[in-house]
Amino acid sequence: MNQNYRLPDHNAERMRMMDTVRSEFHLDPALTECGRGKTYFIRTYGCQANVRDSETIAGILEEMGFLPASVMEEADVLLFNTCAVRKAAEEHVLGEIGSLKTLKRNDPDKLFALCGCMAQEESVVSQILRSYPQIDLLFGTHNLSRLPQLLSRAMKGERVVEVESEGSGSIVEGMPVQRTRSFKAFVNIMYGCDKFCTYCIVPYTRGKERSREMEYILEEIRGVKQAGGKEVTLLGQNVNAYGKDLGMQDGFTELLKRAAETGIERIRFYTSHPRDYSETTIDAMRDCLNIMPALHLPVQSGSDEILRKMNRGYTSGSFRTLYDRMKEKIPGITFTTDLIVGFPSETEAQFQETLDLAEYCRFDSAFTFVYSPREGTPAAKMEDTVSLSEKKDRLQRLNEVIGKHARANNEATVGKVLRVLCDGRSKKKEETFAGYSEENRLVNFTGEGIREGDIVDVRITEARSFSLFGEAVGIV
Ligand code: SAH
Ligand code: SF4
Ligand code: F3S
Repeated sequence: MNQNYRLPDHNAERMRMMDTVRSEFHLDPALTECGRGKTYFIRTYGCQANVRDSETIAGILEEMGFLPASVMEEADVLLFNTCAVRKAAEEHVLGEIGSLKTLKRNDPDKLFALCGCMAQEESVVSQILRSYPQIDLLFGTHNLSRLPQLLSRAMKGERVVEVESEGSGSIVEGMPVQRTRSFKAFVNIMYGCDKFCTYCIVPYTRGKERSREMEYILEEIRGVKQAGGKEVTLLGQNVNAYGKDLGMQDGFTELLKRAAETGIERIRFYTSHPRDYSETTIDAMRDCLNIMPALHLPVQSGSDEILRKMNRGYTSGSFRTLYDRMKEKIPGITFTTDLIVGFPSETEAQFQETLDLAEYCRFDSAFTFVYSPREGTPAAKMEDTVSLSEKKDRLQRLNEVIGKHARANNEATVGKVLRVLCDGRSKKKEETFAGYSEENRLVNFTGEGIREGDIVDVRITEARSFSLFGEAVGIV
């Protein structure tokens, strides 16, 4: 096996290079035929950043001549684009790649690759190299643009590993993309994260915070619109910091306004950070009608002491003030959030403060997590004082409060008409369609002559905790 690789290095990740290296993607013409007659399949875990990366990987593979396989087991090249944010996510992937051994034994010509955030973790990479010989290619989040070269080497029988942290300050423009849906698109506006919340692995796996030049972003949005697209979601770990590294004062607001001027029907963004939220961004959301009135604003905890230990940079009070201002300026805006229970040293009283915050903000929904220690992060060195049963109990109590408000907020929409972008037929019922309203509420509905990608007015007839039901009253 080729030992010519370096492992990712979390300590090096803390010393961020100042300059972002920008370049354009170029596919070596000699590699455009390597996938002829072969198929690929991508298993994607984790957040939207990974979903968008998988679309780039698909784009690259198709330029190399590969075609998509409809079933995972049949693919000649099988890629696992992984997430490292919690231990459970990692264990799931390790279980799946473990079962590839049999597939490999039956067909040694199949090629298995692992990429994404797990490939940026030193201990995981070492474990895979040691115990998972069926993985032929390992590449990190910073090496996507090198996939053609890496894959062609692996196809010649070499075990290829490219996971070092050195590329973490780069942006490669012009990479091909094979989007999952034609009418809804994810558009990266920035990569990486410099916030270093003490529990979080992302700053280590995704590198330093760096923004794409605005013109490239706008060009991508115009391209989506020209191809008939209706909705773009602007992606970054912390979108409110957009442009700071490019010397812009209020880059995200400027970008939002310019994106709105493209005339695309719907603009969303994901994820926001309460610390960098500016008043001008709230005003832009109010003034531009194609910026959707829905905000995902992770708060993590309602306790000031825990927020300080998490290095979040705001207090429970300042979060409430921001929440109040948004509700006041943008009536009808929906709020969703992320919350962690059982952070090291979290007391029952501190958890109660999280419940109080959830009661105050009446979130429309929330992703709630049990704290999971991540090797190499500062919180992993703090003493884990909360027992597993206590963590589970807190999660359940929190979910009850979240569910109660989610349901009440949904019930308040019964009888109203919501404007829904149709995603297609519902997974559960063939005669029903599903889609999201402007406020990002999941709506199942019935109607005639509706196609995927249509924007439809739907009268709401019934509410559940996390979805609505209604009848189409007109196609926009
Ligand atoms: N950049 C985004 C979210 C990134 S990860 C943000 O800052 O909001 C998505 C969510 O996973 C986080 O908001 C957090 O709630 C959760 N999370 C991250 N690390 C975690 C950990 N070690 N244990 C449990 N949940 C975690
Ligand atoms: Fe992780 Fe915090 Fe960065 Fe979000 S802002 S990705 S939670 S370090
Ligand atoms: Fe997971 Fe990486 Fe996203 S750790 S949440 S896939 S940035």
